Amino acid sequence: MIQIPVAKPVLDEQEVEAVRRVILSGWVTQGPEVAAFEQEFADFVGASHACAVSNCTTALHLALLAIGVTAGDEVITVSHSFIATANAIRYCGATPVFVDVEADGFNIDPDEIEAAISPRTKAIICVHQLGMPCDLHRIVEIGTRLSIPVIEDAACATGSEILWKGRWEKIGKPHGDIACFSFHPRKVVTTGDGGMLTTSNPEYDRKFRLWRQHSMSVNDTVRHGSKQVIYESYPELGFNYRMTDMQAAVGRVQLKRLPDLVARRRALAELYSKQLVFAAGPRPPVEPSFARSNWQSYCVALPDKWGQRDIMQGLLDRGISTRRGIMNSHLEPAYAEHNSHRVAGTLKNSITAQNKTIILPLFSQMTNDEIEIVVSAIKSELVTPELAIA
Ligand SMILES: Cc1ncc(COP(=O)(O)O)c(C=O)c1O
Repeated sequence: MIQIPVAKPVLDEQEVEAVRRVILSGWVTQGPEVAAFEQEFADFVGASHACAVSNCTTALHLALLAIGVTAGDEVITVSHSFIATANAIRYCGATPVFVDVEADGFNIDPDEIEAAISPRTKAIICVHQLGMPCDLHRIVEIGTRLSIPVIEDAACATGSEILWKGRWEKIGKPHGDIACFSFHPRKVVTTGDGGMLTTSNPEYDRKFRLWRQHSMSVNDTVRHGSKQVIYESYPELGFNYRMTDMQAAVGRVQLKRLPDLVARRRALAELYSKQLVFAAGPRPPVEPSFARSNWQSYCVALPDKWGQRDIMQGLLDRGISTRRGIMNSHLEPAYAEHNSHRVAGTLKNSITAQNKTIILPLFSQMTNDEIEIVVSAIKSELVTPELAIA
C-alpha cells in the first residue's frame, strides 16, 4: 500500500465552494470566471496579457501558430521533456529539432542551440523542466540576436522565479515571447486540466482568444449580454481549446494558495538536499544562482551502480511512490519515423537524465518526518547488495 505518494494536489472545501458557486450561476463554460482568472494570473506573473485554454498542450499549439510556425518549418527544443512539447510542434506540420540538456541539470543547454539552427528554424521552445527556470538570459539573447521567437514551456513553472536585470521576477512575465502553463494535477496548482498563455504582444493575445473558440467573431458572453440580435461568423479555422468557468473558479482559489504552496515546497526541497548528502548517495538537484524553483518535482541523479527500476521498486515495496526521470520523446515509437524529428548533436545528457534519475515524493502537505522516511528508505536500499547493477 502506498503511504507516501509522489504528488498530491491541495484541494479542499474552498475549491468545492468555488465550483458550487459557478454551477449555481448557470454559466459553466468560458465566461466571467475565466476572465477573472486570466486577470489574476496576469497580475501574479506581471504579464500584460494572459489567455486561459484547455491545457498546456493546446497553449503550446496556439503559441506556435501565433508565431507563424507551419509545415516545413523547424522548431528547436529538447527531446528530454513530456511528449507534449514536441507533439505541439508536429501539430503545426513542423519538425522538432532536438538538442541536448545541460550535464548538471534538466534544461536545454544554451551552448547547443546555435549549431542546431537552419534556414528553416522558426522558433525555439525552452522548457523550465520540473519547475526549474532555464537559462533564459542566454536563450533570449540568442533569439533576439537571430530574430527567432522564444516560447517558454512553463508547464511546470507556475510560481518559479528568475533573476532578471537584478530583480526576481515570476516566470511568465514573459521573458521570451510567449509562456505556456499547465494546471494538470501533477503541477503546483491545478484546475483538473487547464492551461494559460502569457505574452506582452497584444496581437498574439488577440489570436489566442480568437482561435481558442473556433475563431468565432463574437464571443458567448458578448452575444449573451447584447440587447440586439447578433449573428457571429467564423473568418478562419479555429479550435475548441476553451477552459470552463468551473475550472477557472478552482484556479482562482489555487492561485491564492500558490505563495504558501511554493514556500512549503522550497522548505521541503531544502530538507531533502541537506539530508541526501551522504557517501555514495544520490545527487540532489542544484538551483542555479539566477533561479528560484517552485520544486514542482524533486529529481535526484542516481550513482552509477544503482539500477533505476530496482531502486524504484525497492521504495515502492516500502510504500513510497517515485517516478523515473523525464522521458525523451525521440525514443518513443511515435517518433520512430525518420522524418518525425531531427537530432542536432548528441542527446547523451538527455538519455542519462531519463535513465539515471528518479523523482522523489514532494507535495506541500508532506511532513518533515515523511522526508526522513524517504531518505532513510533510500539509505536502506543503497546498502541492499542485489540492487547494485555494476
Ligand atoms: C514540460 C511539459 N510541457 C507540456 C505539458 C503538457 O501539459 P498539459 O497536460 O496541461 O497539456 C506538460 C505536462 O506534464 C509538461 O510537463
